[in-house]
Amino acid sequence: MNSKGMKLAGSGFEIRSAEGMDAAEIAAVLRRSIAELCVADHNNDPERLGSWLRNKTEETALGWIEGPGQVLVAVSQGSDRQLLGVGMALPAGEVVLNYVDPSARYQGVSKALMWSLESYFTTIGVTHVSLRSTLTAERFYRSIGYVQSDIPLDPGDRAAAIFEKDLHP
Ligand SMILES: CC(C)(COP(=O)(O)OP(=O)(O)OC[C@H]1O[C@@H](n2cnc3c(N)ncnc32)[C@H](O)[C@@H]1OP(=O)(O)O)[C@@H](O)C(=O)NCCC(=O)NCCS
Repeated sequence: MNSKGMKLAGSGFEIRSAEGMDAAEIAAVLRRSIAELCVADHNNDPERLGSWLRNKTEETALGWIEGPGQVLVAVSQGSDRQLLGVGMALPAGEVVLNYVDPSARYQGVSKALMWSLESYFTTIGVTHVSLRSTLTAERFYRSIGYVQSDIPLDPGDRAAAIFEKDLHP
């Protein structure tokens, strides 16, 4: 348990709040997840991939951890420092990060992260959640109850679709 106070067990992993010392590994997981799993979105186009990865640094991750939102990490039950996934929510009701390490794909990590982020929203009284999805994750979000509400207007926008969900506490 840490200062933002969340710790949940999954199957072979746990979800806990991120700490400052996770920042470098958070950035590394984000980079691997985007580069290796989101190929449908960036098509290995160096410019598109480069701009997506540009702010995925230890420094940025530290700013997120110290900021007003909730940053959660999934960690291996065998090692509290081995990160399997990263999620982040803003208090206004937006999920802004949900990335799984390629080594941990389809093991329930994103589902557990999203469930934990939704619990956080419920705790702070937020009942309507939105997120900007990659193409890669659209099927996943539908499977956990999100409904597509829009597509981004800007053709340069990285997100493929905007999804929303009403939470019922
Ligand atoms: C798609 C993705 C988000 C799913 O996360 P995950 O941790 O691997 O998936 P989980 O094990 O938590 O969730 C399982 C769900 O994934 C999907 N899934 C599971 N196995 C799958 C497979 N072999 N092929 C395709 N989809 C599959 C299903 O929707 C499944 O739900 P179900 O079990 O109810 O059918 C993740 O694999 C991914 O590619 N992330 C890349 C980063 C990204 O795009 N993040 C979103 C930013 S908005």
